[in-house]
Formats: sequence, structure tokens, C-alpha cells
Amino acid sequence: MRLCYLSFLVALLVLLPRSSGAEETYSCSPTPNVLPSQDVDFGRCLFNSLTAFGQDTNGPFAACSRCHYGSEKSDEGVHLVRVANRSGKTTDVLRKTPSLLKAAHNAPFGADGRFATVQDAAKAAILSPVEMRGKSVTPDQLDALAAFVLGLPDSDPESTANFVQPPEPDPATLTLIATGRSVFFGKGLCSTCHAGADLSNHKITTNQVHLTFSAKTDAGGGFVGTGAAQTFKVPSLFYLFSDPPMHNGGLTTVAQIVFFYNESLALGLTYPELSGLAFWLHNCLDPRRTAMPSTC
Ligand code: HEC
Ligand code: HEC
Repeated sequence: MRLCYLSFLVALLVLLPRSSGAEETYSCSPTPNVLPSQDVDFGRCLFNSLTAFGQDTNGPFAACSRCHYGSEKSDEGVHLVRVANRSGKTTDVLRKTPSLLKAAHNAPFGADGRFATVQDAAKAAILSPVEMRGKSVTPDQLDALAAFVLGLPDSDPESTANFVQPPEPDPATLTLIATGRSVFFGKGLCSTCHAGADLSNHKITTNQVHLTFSAKTDAGGGFVGTGAAQTFKVPSLFYLFSDPPMHNGGLTTVAQIVFFYNESLALGLTYPELSGLAFWLHNCLDPRRTAMPSTC
């Protein structure tokens, strides 16, 4: 028993420094002669810092990188978030940690679109009593954080270096992807909301029409005044599967997603169409892939 306890302590000591990864306790300073809004290195340092905002260093969520970490910049988890609306009311909801790789495509920010800028989203996390519990943050620090986040994945060597290039698809797979593409841009209606170059029309709406995966557990846009009750931002689909899909991670696998939409939007898709759509979603949405399949 005692040996067990001892080895647990040893394991904890060995593991702790590793799990804190790139987190830094030394101070971050601006790069000389670089504007804060372009200071990616300052932003990266702040993103990993446990002290820059007077935050609770021993808290579970002391740094941005405690939640947005690794190559995907997401812990693939769901957290308590305290949302404030314009009249100062607050509500506590569970939201997934979005991957920040697609931040440049994903405004407005937060699943309910309550933040116009990355700066606003960062400030809220820093000062939140249920997240970082920081004391203060300057506009220059926020601009540098935004430069780093909006520059992802290129601003973070880890995000591209660890990406494993998938093998070239075989002809049968290419045909399935082609079917999926025509469903996405055609009778699947997907591109009416996941539209344009960002695969998002940047609106706040609902995809839960005839079927729900969250019921009334989160008022979304209705609480913060960006939309009707239980509406959410149409997210960009780039880097799909870098975080758990939907605002609360309520749908996870690609099969759950395509069967959900088929019923929720009453699409009446056939099995070959559903599986084609799954293949398109799997193969065509990660811009880190150097050779996109020709039928995407
Ligand atoms: C407790 C874990 C946690 C910490 C710490 C944290 N975040 Fe987040 N972040 C989240 C969650 C959860 C959301 C989703 C919030 C929502 O949907 O309302 C989010 C949302 C965001 C978004 C919006 C992304 C989008 O596409 O809508 C940005 C930008 C962001 N965080 C940046 C940061 C930065 C910068 C920091 C550090 C200053 C930080 N976060 C700290 C968990 C965290
Ligand atoms: C009426 C607008 C609308 C249509 C049509 C639509 N979506 Fe969505 N989609 C949304 C909204 C809103 C969300 C966010 C829901 C949430 O956060 O709970 C979403 C989320 C998603 C997500 C999760 C992304 C993430 O990062 O969490 C996937 C995947 C997705 N949609 C795929 C599709 C596919 C495939 C189709 C076509 C079959 C489709 N969507 C059609 C509005 C739409």
C-alpha cells in the first residue's frame, strides 16, 4: 500500500512538469519595434503564461494553454462558462473548448457569437471567476494574444509540425467524396449556412429543427441578444474534429452528425449520400493537408 502511494507521488512529480507543457512563469515582454497587433511572439508567450494577468497560478485553468493546447489548440473538453449579457445578468453553461486553428474564419466568437473580436473573448476568459481568475489585462496584451490566435496554425510551430499527412485516397474513396461534395453543396442544404470561403455565413441560427441534441439546456443567442432562444453561431467547418462538434460537444462522430442532419432538416438522403457526406467531412476540411483529394 505504502509502495503504491510512493509510486503515485513519484509519478505525479514526473508527470506534472510535462503536463504543464510550454507554460511559463517568467514574464512576457513585447518585441521591440513590433506593433502589438502583429506581435505574435509576445502573444504566444502570454498565451502560455501563468502569471501575466495576475491570475490564480494554482487554479485548474491558469493559462489559455491549459484549455487550448497541443497541435489542435483544444483539450477536446467541455467547461463551465459564465456568460454575461448586456444588462449584467449572468448564466452558467457548459461549452466545448473550440479549436483556435479556425479562429480567422470563425467570427463572431463564442458559440453564441457574443464576442465581436478575439480580444473580447480573451479578456472574458482572463477575468472570469470560473476560468482564469485574472486581475487585469492591457489592450496591448489583448492585441498580441489576438495576433497569435488569428495567425494559427502558422503562428504555432506545434500546430503544423505534428500534423500527419493522410495517404492519397483510392479511386473508390474519391468517388464517395465526390458524392459527399454534391450533397453538401446541393440537397443537403449544408452550404446555405456553412457558406462561402469560411464555410460559415457568420449568423446565429438553429440546426435543431425536427430533432434536438441539447433541448433547452442553453439559451445561446437568446440570452446574450444575438439571436432567438436556443440559437448558436454557424461555425466554420475548417479543422472539423479538432474539437468536439457543436456548442456542447453534443454530437461527436461523423455518423452522428450526418444522421442527425438527415432527420433534423428532413433531408431524405439515401445511404450512399449519407456515407459520401461523411467521407467529404472527413477528407476535405483540414487546410494543413498539403494534397487535398481531387474530388473535394
Ligand atoms: C477553462 C478553459 C479555457 C481557458 C483557460 C481559455 N479558454 Fe478560450 N474558450 C474556452 C471555451 C469553453 C470556449 C467557448 C466559449 C463559448 O462558447 O461561449 C472558449 C472560446 C474561446 C474563443 C472563441 C473561439 C471561437 O471560435 O468562437 C477564443 C478566441 C478563445 N477562447 C481564446 C482564449 C484565449 C486567448 C485564452 C487566454 C487568455 C483562453 N481562450 C482561455 C475555454 C477556455
Ligand atoms: C440552418 C443552418 C444550418 C444548416 C442548413 C446546416 N448547419 Fe451545420 N451548423 C449550424 C449551426 C447553427 C451549428 C452550431 C450548432 C451548435 O453549436 O449547437 C452547426 C454546426 C455544425 C457542425 C459542428 C461544427 C463544430 O465546429 O462544432 C457540423 C459538422 C455541421 N454543422 C455540419 C453540417 C452539415 C454536414 C450540414 C448539411 C447536412 C449542415 N451542417 C447544415 C447551422 C446549419
